[in-house]
Amino acid sequence: MSDVTVIGLGAMGSALARTLLNADYTVTVWNRSPEKIEPLVVAGAKGAASVFDAINASMVAIICVNDYDTSKALLDHSDITPLLEGRTVIQLTTGTPKEAGDSGLWVNTQGGRYLDGAIMVYPGQVGTAEAQILMTGPEETFENCRALLGCLGGDLRYLGTNIRAAAALDLALIYRLLGRSLGTTYGALVCEAEGASVAQYASLLPQGERSRTIAELIHADDFSIGENSASGNVVRGLAARLQSQARDARIDSALADLALSLQRQSNEAGYGHLDAAVVIKILRDRGNTEQN
Ligand SMILES: NC(=O)c1ccc[n+]([C@@H]2O[C@H](COP(=O)([O-])OP(=O)(O)OC[C@H]3O[C@@H](n4cnc5c(N)ncnc54)[C@H](OP(=O)(O)O)[C@@H]3O)[C@@H](O)[C@H]2O)c1
Repeated sequence: MSDVTVIGLGAMGSALARTLLNADYTVTVWNRSPEKIEPLVVAGAKGAASVFDAINASMVAIICVNDYDTSKALLDHSDITPLLEGRTVIQLTTGTPKEAGDSGLWVNTQGGRYLDGAIMVYPGQVGTAEAQILMTGPEETFENCRALLGCLGGDLRYLGTNIRAAAALDLALIYRLLGRSLGTTYGALVCEAEGASVAQYASLLPQGERSRTIAELIHADDFSIGENSASGNVVRGLAARLQSQARDARIDSALADLALSLQRQSNEAGYGHLDAAVVIKILRDRGNTEQN
């Protein structure tokens, strides 16, 4: 048996598995595309040939794939579900609070223990003292996994037993970023309309903050992806998640609706691969259209 299994070896899952290996845990890994398994086997992991073998190999499985539907599709098979009895599933895939709740309920129904988490850093920061990871679930289950999770992020926060809370706080922080980003973009629109300098506007914004990057990109009219970037495709996914949560929870969705509609237009115009600040082009066009 291994100490832990990691399912999903994208950028994040690979970073998680590698960090666990560095901390001397025995790790079994599985990924849909087998070529991502090999580098981890070289680093000391055991490669599993199937999801069944991967779950069977450890009493704790970390799942980190693109979304919850994929996670469910991987686990919901008649040969795999009996294996979940008594095992712990740690879901580190990003999702909505409802998805977290549904996922926890499903694992519990199979007799498994469930923790849901949100990773608040990039893969390159996993395992550092600053890496923040938010976790929710039964306290005893969390305590049993505290050491394991603690090596993934020095700033590990247990949020309590509300299984939806990690996903909720993740979304809350995304709202804050999105509001600032959109606000900054509208600010640049005001500068342009009034003949004020967007460069001066950028210089008034805090160094290192995404909002400053946005104003600088708009001033330079260069929306290539850089170190501090979020692509239009990524932001569209985030906005869709915000809208979905708002609808699930019946809260106002005006900001999510605006962000999603702008990002859709931007991506349909072929800008999805560029920095999301390129949405200023859509706002300029909208303004002109509204005037006519
Ligand atoms: N990267 C970040 O900065 C970051 C930060 C915080 C949280 N996260 C979260 O971590 C999770 C993984 O992100 P990532 O950056 O590792 O993404 P990624 O590099 O795109 O990897 C996605 C993973 O999902 C798997 N996958 C996708 N569709 C699948 C399917 N139909 N069946 C089986 N496996 C499938 C991929 O397998 P293949 O290799 O076969 O395609 C891969 O292992 C996401 O929920 C993301 O939101 C990421």
